[in-house]
Formats: sequence, structure tokens, C-alpha cells
Amino acid sequence: MNAVSPADLYRSHLDTLKARADHALAASGHDHLLIASGVEKYTFLDDRSYPFRPNPHFKHWLPLTQHPHSWLAYTPGRRPLLVYHQPDDFWHVPPSPPHGDWVAHFDIRVIGSPEEAVRHLPAGHAAIIGEADAALPGFVPNNPPAVLDHLHFHRACKTPYELALMRQAQTRAVAGHLAARDAFLAGASERDIHRAYLAATGHTDLDLPYNNIVGLNEHGAVLHYQYQDAVAPAEHRSLLIDAGAEVDGYAADITRTWCRGDADFQALIDAVDAVQRGLCDSVRAGVDYRALHLQAHQALAGVLRDQGIVAMTPEAQLASGVSSVFFPHGLGHLIGLQVHDVGGFLADESGATLPKPDGHPFLRLTRPLLPGMVVTIEPGIYFIDSLLAQLRARPEGKAVDWDRVAHLARFGGVRIEDEVLCTDGAPQNLSREAFAAV
Ligand code: GLY
Ligand code: MN
Ligand code: MN
Repeated sequence: MNAVSPADLYRSHLDTLKARADHALAASGHDHLLIASGVEKYTFLDDRSYPFRPNPHFKHWLPLTQHPHSWLAYTPGRRPLLVYHQPDDFWHVPPSPPHGDWVAHFDIRVIGSPEEAVRHLPAGHAAIIGEADAALPGFVPNNPPAVLDHLHFHRACKTPYELALMRQAQTRAVAGHLAARDAFLAGASERDIHRAYLAATGHTDLDLPYNNIVGLNEHGAVLHYQYQDAVAPAEHRSLLIDAGAEVDGYAADITRTWCRGDADFQALIDAVDAVQRGLCDSVRAGVDYRALHLQAHQALAGVLRDQGIVAMTPEAQLASGVSSVFFPHGLGHLIGLQVHDVGGFLADESGATLPKPDGHPFLRLTRPLLPGMVVTIEPGIYFIDSLLAQLRARPEGKAVDWDRVAHLARFGGVRIEDEVLCTDGAPQNLSREAFAAV
């Protein structure tokens, strides 16, 4: 089979976006789709800007992630128009002239100031997607729910162009994960592990799709641990690193847990890893992600029993909520333009939603899986002091081997997270493929 060129991939990606927009506009009675890239935001009473985060709808059409004050305008049947903001700014490096495979597909008007966009945007009844602060006279974002629901529902299914970029993001993240593992084994601090990760990915903190979670020892129990200690601990028992990468606006979100010199915790990592692989293999078209989440609870409860942590059947652990003490978050989420991509609860393009299972408030994805969806699969077992204290006070607390918990709690917890592509047949584990290619 001949390799498809990036230019061909992009062209067919654009055709898909146009077709989706055609449907969304026709169904909602709009003439045009206008998308504001966004504006820079500043800290209170200061001239310091926050990192620019573009409107994800904008970067869906264009691989432009550092382009505030630009606009995309699409009218069914016409070439899309890009109003490209390129100010004459001697304080900063302005965006370079438009270049890339995408340029051939757009009418491009370069503007030097944000207000000039008004002269180029089409008049008429438009769906205008953007934040309120992107408003220009006559062009105030209205974010029609009927349009957003339609686009968000379909965005879950990636085009081959998007998958190519997401694979590149995986490769980038994997280089970081291997460097982080080596830094951990060499006894580095959390901060230096993070720096090793950044160096290997070629990212700075500002480029990351989310703040890296780099937890040594007990810190692995904090689900979104937000610090990076500058001083290495006396002992390096474990590392839980949840760290991503980005390529042209598409995110990777990978977690690995490493251990040094403890057979019990290594056995727990291996057991969670086996559960995770089984769940990844269950990513099949038609499977309800809620069922997969409950399957994860069942399997992790089996690990808790088999590892001598909780002397209860998996069924009893699920029914009593004990499995949620050790696995309190959702199995995973959609991913793509955003790490936690939108549309995870949509039943269809009309905006109807699918509820979370009772007792599982943190699940971010309740949809049946479709070919083209990329989801994360990220089961974990953690030893979280506050949740364990509550369990201890309940009757089920008597089924817990607290000495074993005390030993394992010194390692924080285990999470293993991959991105998995749902297909018409067997799933493709984008993360493990990237690890295997190293
Ligand atoms: N890194 C956040 C998450 O795994 O969802
Ligand atoms: Mn995730
Ligand atoms: Mn993650």
C-alpha cells in the first residue's frame, strides 16, 4: 500500500470538517461558521500574559496554536477563509507568513490589528464559536448549542490526519517517559525527573498539554499531585509519572509507575498492568465505556483480593464502594485537541446525554465506543490517607489487611495509562506501539 502523504491526509481531514459543518449549519439554520482563535489574557493589574491557549475548534481546522486574533470563516459550498493576524510587533516575534500544506485550501487575508477582521468576515446569520472576549463589532460569539453539540459529538472520531499527529505526540511523550524512568532510577528529585522529561520531549512547561504529575513515593497517591520537590528524598521507592506531549495541538496523556527494589509493590504494578492491558483489548466498537469502567472496578477489586489487601469478593467490593476507595477516578476519557476532550457524555448530535453509573461521579466518558475514537485507559490502585481513614471506620474496614496497606502506602499508588484507538476490529494501543518502536 502506498503511504498517504501529509498533504493528502490534511485535505481529506478538511473535507470531513466541512461536511460536519455543512450538517451542523443546515440543521441549526445558520449561514456561516465563524471561529475565533482567541485572545491573549493578562494577569490582574499586570501586563504579564498567560500562556495562549487557542480555541480548540480553531486548531481543529488549522495546525495553528500560537495565533491569537485570527478567525476562520466557513460558508457551505465556498473555500474556507482564514483571517490571519500578523501584527507589526517589535516587542515579540509575530506569526510567520502562512505556510504549510493547509495554505492551498484557504482564502487568506492578513490583518495587522484585531479590529481589521471585521472587514473580512462574512455578514449573515452566523454561528460564532469563541470566548466572549473575542467579540468584535457585529461578531459576538453566540456558541449555538445545536452547532456545538453536533461538532462535539463527531469530534470524538478522529480523521487519519488527526491520528497521524496523535501518534507523533505519543512518540514524543514516550521519549520523555523513558528519560524520566532513567532519572528516577538514578535518584533524581521530582523536579529533575520533570526536567529530564522536558529535555527528552523537546517541550518547555508552556508547551505541555497539562501539568506533568511527577510523584515520588507517597506522592503517587495524590491523583493530580501538583508540586515537584526540588530535593530528592532519602529513598527512591516508586515513581508515578503522568505526563503528556503535544504535536500541532494534539495531546498525548501517558502514565507509568516505576518501582525500585520491592517485590510486593512490583507485584501490584504488574497486576494493574495486566488489568490495564485486558481493558485496552476490550476497546471495541459498540462497547459501552461505562461497562468498561465497571469491568475495571471488577478486575481491580480482584487484584485487591489476590494481593491480600481486601478480603472481599470483587462483587462485594463493588456493591459496598470499597473498590472506589482504592480506585476513585474514572477509567478514562476522550482525548485529542484537548486532553479531556469534549463530548464524552453525548448520546447523539442533538445534545442528549448519557448518565454516569450511580456511585461513579468522576467518570468522564459514558458513550458507546465508535471506530475512530481515541480513549485513555487508565486504571489505578492508590493508598489515599483520607479515603482509607473513612474505610477504616466502616464495617468493611475489617476486611482490609491494614499492615499490608501501611507497607504499600509508602509507594503511593499505581496508575498505568495509554491511549487506545477503537477500530472496526482489534484496537490499536497508540502508547504501547510508541514504546515498542523505541
Ligand atoms: N493527566 C490527567 C489524566 O490522566 O486524565
Ligand atoms: Mn488521562
Ligand atoms: Mn494522565
